[in-house]
Amino acid sequence: MKCMVCLALAWVCLVSLAEALAGAQIAQDLRSTLSSRSRIYLPTDEGWPNEITQRFNSWNGPTYVVAVKPAVKEDVQKVVKYAAQNNVSFLATGGGHGYSGTLSALDHGIELDMGNFKTVSVNAATNRISVGGSVKFADMMVPTYSAGKAIPVGGCSCVGITGATLGGGIGFYSGMYGATSDSLVSAEIVLASGKLITASEHKNAELFWGIKGAGSNFGVVTSLTFKVYDPPSAGQVMNADMMFPVGLNGSLWKFASSWVGKQPKELSIMFSMLFDPISQQLLIIANIIYAGPLSKGQALIQPLLDLHPFNLNITYLPWKDIPDSANYGFPAQSCTQTGMTSIPYTVNLYQINFDVLIAATKFLSDSFLTTPALRGSLIAFTQYAPHGFQLYSDKSSAFPHRDVILYVQLEGAVLNPTDSPAIDSFGQNFRDLLQQSSGRKDVYTHFANGDEGPVAWYSARNVRRLRALKALYDKEGVFSFYNPV
Ligand SMILES: Cc1cc2nc3c(=O)[nH]c(=O)nc-3n(C[C@H](O)[C@H](O)[C@H](O)COP(=O)(O)OP(=O)(O)OC[C@H]3O[C@@H](n4cnc5c(N)ncnc54)[C@H](O)[C@@H]3O)c2cc1C
Ligand SMILES: *[C@@H]1O[C@H](CO)[C@@H](O)[C@H](O)[C@H]1NC(C)=O
Ligand SMILES: *[C@@H]1O[C@H](CO)[C@@H](O)[C@H](O)[C@H]1NC(C)=O
Ligand SMILES: *[C@@H]1O[C@H](CO)[C@@H](O)[C@H](O)[C@H]1NC(C)=O
Repeated sequence: MKCMVCLALAWVCLVSLAEALAGAQIAQDLRSTLSSRSRIYLPTDEGWPNEITQRFNSWNGPTYVVAVKPAVKEDVQKVVKYAAQNNVSFLATGGGHGYSGTLSALDHGIELDMGNFKTVSVNAATNRISVGGSVKFADMMVPTYSAGKAIPVGGCSCVGITGATLGGGIGFYSGMYGATSDSLVSAEIVLASGKLITASEHKNAELFWGIKGAGSNFGVVTSLTFKVYDPPSAGQVMNADMMFPVGLNGSLWKFASSWVGKQPKELSIMFSMLFDPISQQLLIIANIIYAGPLSKGQALIQPLLDLHPFNLNITYLPWKDIPDSANYGFPAQSCTQTGMTSIPYTVNLYQINFDVLIAATKFLSDSFLTTPALRGSLIAFTQYAPHGFQLYSDKSSAFPHRDVILYVQLEGAVLNPTDSPAIDSFGQNFRDLLQQSSGRKDVYTHFANGDEGPVAWYSARNVRRLRALKALYDKEGVFSFYNPV
């Protein structure tokens, strides 16, 4: 018995020694070629936890033997070339908020931390903003707002704008302006060959089509340029937060369904369900955002106010403050944390079927009551206005599923490792229930679990075109660790 333990330990030792050697070798090779301001870290280095971007969600994450922080574009080109030539896996990291389980296929690779690419420049005269490849929404909201402009940002300000854009990017201004990727004007991107090119409607147009929605498959982005807009009401936005007991879910689903086919482009609706340990039942947090005059916003939510919600908080804020204030600021507080484990199960819904949502709420409520392992989890239902998404045709980019009515997301927080199987089983059943009702298995690529497959992430029509593009730009599959086509 003792011997077996010894053997096992020796094996672990050998494996980690081999990894260390591999990491040290890569570090040595790269150090001799990269510019002097670039940095290379081994996992044992003191700087690793603070100077290298850590992941928000550690569920099924990638593993690294070395991290490289390039200083200039040429460094990025050299790292990509080196990795491709030596068959070493690598992943570009921007905000560190990606969480698809497909990332776990990256084992013992290079973390290509884009943290030095953080410039932001807004040009109000030309209605453009350019950002470096690691800029987060939080870094570009203030300069954009201060210039009197707006752009669709995500609900969490700590998400990387490049990462988000490469899969779409959705938030409260999407009802007006579409996905973040719809506003993309051009991208500077390092291809698998190490070549740095520009993609836009006029240059490398097919690649430009592909990176707007399936971009993680094609290269490392050093910078992006977007359109910005003159927002209504000078960028002032109503944020209304309120809470309801789950018993009122029927009235909330009626409110949600009352907007289908006529949701004002300024209106975003989000219901989050979580377990309240005090009342021992599900609690529903409603977050209503209206990007127009306050009086209009208040009138629109009157049916909800008539239900006498508790903890009502209606504010009128500059749009730059919305992500950090919405939902009582809870998402913003957790946003900057790293290393939590959360299992995602998500479905796109294309209609609001009252009976199905009542049944889904009952299933949630019953499951939370009988299964304590679920009680750290949250289920979010988000309903943006279709207007912004419909401004662009299905053919305009690889961002698919423009007809989504409701994004349903389970964030299955694993507070205790032994809870994972219960969360997985619940998540799969919940997802099945909703998929059966809709007859479609599509999912927004950035909310995906990773087990759904390319057709669900990108649509059948796009997958064919994306694979042809992949054969042109990344035949060897160097960029294949995040929802690969
Ligand atoms: C708490 C939370 C809230 C979220 N809210 C929203 C939301 O409201 N709306 C929304 O649309 N999405 C949202 N997301 C999803 C988010 O858009 C995606 O997870 C996105 O991939 C995160 O990008 P990142 O740069 O932060 O992550 P990373 O993990 O750094 O990157 C994710 C993927 O993008 C690639 N990538 C990042 N930077 C580059 C680059 N410079 N060049 C090439 N590839 C790059 C990575 O290689 C990886 O494949 C949320 C995620 C979390 C965790
Ligand atoms: C590249 O590495 C992978 C494992 O990381 C291995 O499966 C594959 O055979 C390697 N290819 C070559 C050409 O060495
Ligand atoms: C949800 O609402 C319906 C109808 O209004 C109600 O019958 C049901 O009990 C509610 N569900 C829960 C879990 O309270
Ligand atoms: C209401 O929301 C605003 C904006 O986020 C916040 O500053 C304020 O503290 C909130 N008020 C209450 C009572 O929670």
